[in-house]
Amino acid sequence: MHTTALTDTAAFQALQAHHATAAQWHLRDLFARQPDRFERMHVRAAGLLLDYSKNRLNADTLSLLMSLARERGVEALRDAMFSGEKINFTEQRAVLHTALRAPADACDAQVDGQPVAAEVHAVLEHIREFSERVRGGQWRGYTGREITDIVNIGIGGSFLGPQMVCTALRDYRHARLTAHFVSNVDGHDLDEVLARIDPETTLFIVASKTFTTQETMLNAKSARAWFLQHGKSEDLAKHFVAVSTNAKEVSAFGIDTENMFPFWDWVGGRYSVWSAIGLPIALLIGYDHFAQFLAGAHAMDRHFREAPLESNMPVIQALVGIWNRNFLDSASLTIAPYHQWLRFFPAYLQQLDMESNGKRITRDGTPVSVETCPAIWGDVGTNGQHAYFQLLHQGTDITPIDFIAVLKPSHAIAEHQEALLANCFAQSEAFMRGKDADEVRADLQAQGLPEAELAALIPHKTFDGNRPSNTLLLPELSPHALGAMIALYEHKTFVQGAIWGINSFDQWGVELGKVLAKTILAELKSDTAPDASRHDASTSALIALAREAARAAQQG
Ligand code: F6P
Repeated sequence: MHTTALTDTAAFQALQAHHATAAQWHLRDLFARQPDRFERMHVRAAGLLLDYSKNRLNADTLSLLMSLARERGVEALRDAMFSGEKINFTEQRAVLHTALRAPADACDAQVDGQPVAAEVHAVLEHIREFSERVRGGQWRGYTGREITDIVNIGIGGSFLGPQMVCTALRDYRHARLTAHFVSNVDGHDLDEVLARIDPETTLFIVASKTFTTQETMLNAKSARAWFLQHGKSEDLAKHFVAVSTNAKEVSAFGIDTENMFPFWDWVGGRYSVWSAIGLPIALLIGYDHFAQFLAGAHAMDRHFREAPLESNMPVIQALVGIWNRNFLDSASLTIAPYHQWLRFFPAYLQQLDMESNGKRITRDGTPVSVETCPAIWGDVGTNGQHAYFQLLHQGTDITPIDFIAVLKPSHAIAEHQEALLANCFAQSEAFMRGKDADEVRADLQAQGLPEAELAALIPHKTFDGNRPSNTLLLPELSPHALGAMIALYEHKTFVQGAIWGINSFDQWGVELGKVLAKTILAELKSDTAPDASRHDASTSALIALAREAARAAQQG
């Protein structure tokens, strides 16, 4: 528990004083003055390389940020997390996603005095055995045909991770299998997938930590009803399996708990891709590749746990983010992966980071004294370049960017990889250096523009630059590298939460909307008009319009 507000700590105040000078710096000058800046400001871990040299800071800034991490007890909280202490104190839960990817003999985590490694590895063994049977064609549908399609029904952490990883690692997929993901309660989502699959050869995975999430349960019910138009109820066991912590609800739904893959309350939804929630991944890419994915994350865990703060990749990435957020006032962070198959990575990070650190109350129950989690957004890099990068280059807000580049492609189409990387590196260079009025003038003069036209154009064509970015390099988009990268972002999120003094592992903010939706659902379904006094005028009018539209649709 922190008793001191962040802004009252000595380290934070030292950073504020330092910022008065640092605010004057331009990245162009920092690079000019320090030719070995890249050498000094990059770090390697678990096969990844993070270049953080294009941030508006110097060695003094970093050393003050390290003091801040120490003063906020990052190391002690990290060790408490790894050992299984209940650091998610508002839910009285340990936070042990790291135990899911640790080799059995390297896992010392305990919950309530009980080691967790044995049950983790028993479930992994079940995943291995099941995925091998499905992939090998021994697990068959009710008419004896092999499984060709896997439909994961889940939302939030029970969707974003598996979908992102299955997409990123599609190179490793089994030729016979296609994975589909249904998350949205909007029936168009399920409808579209059902139109593409055959009940005889489809395996549904109902993935929900709680097994009570409205969207997932409705989608699962509708998928079961669709299946029963073709197969019989005794065939369900061959086509429906569950991933959950809630065995009671799983059997109430009609899934045999033999076909349930459990996990535990000490795995947060947004940290659950390493648990049985990763079942679609193991099915699609095979257990051995899934194990490499876990090993990559474990390599990053070891680095995070063992490396000194000064050369600790997640700590550095987190502290650079704190500098940008709390001293340079950046309200958002853009994620720009330069790899088509990482297209769902920004959405994955939105949940990871914003559901973890989108908080305003500290661990001791008082409001935070600084801004917390920036908004996270983005898309694959080259597409973003032709859409919103204009704002990043010349808009009024400074938005830091995480560029993610993969050095080795898995295609062999000539020229594309060079073009892709050229774009990635050019963007970070442009954000860093900009283009000043003299450079613009020289360009326009070379084109022979008359002085009057030239003067009018210069302000529009000038770029301030000095816009911070990180570049993360992956050797290739392998299971190991992807696992390491996700773990990097998890630990970055952890360190920032520790510095802000918030609980990164609960999510009370999503509850209110869920409760209100229940009331409104009943009103939308009811024959009698709802009592208008229960809602504000806007909500009442919207409910009335929806009821009217439904009535009109019924009458044809
Ligand atoms: O509503 C938010 C949330 O609780 C997330 O934290 C979680 O990942 C998602 O819903 C899905 O929850 P479940 O896996 O229990 O269906």
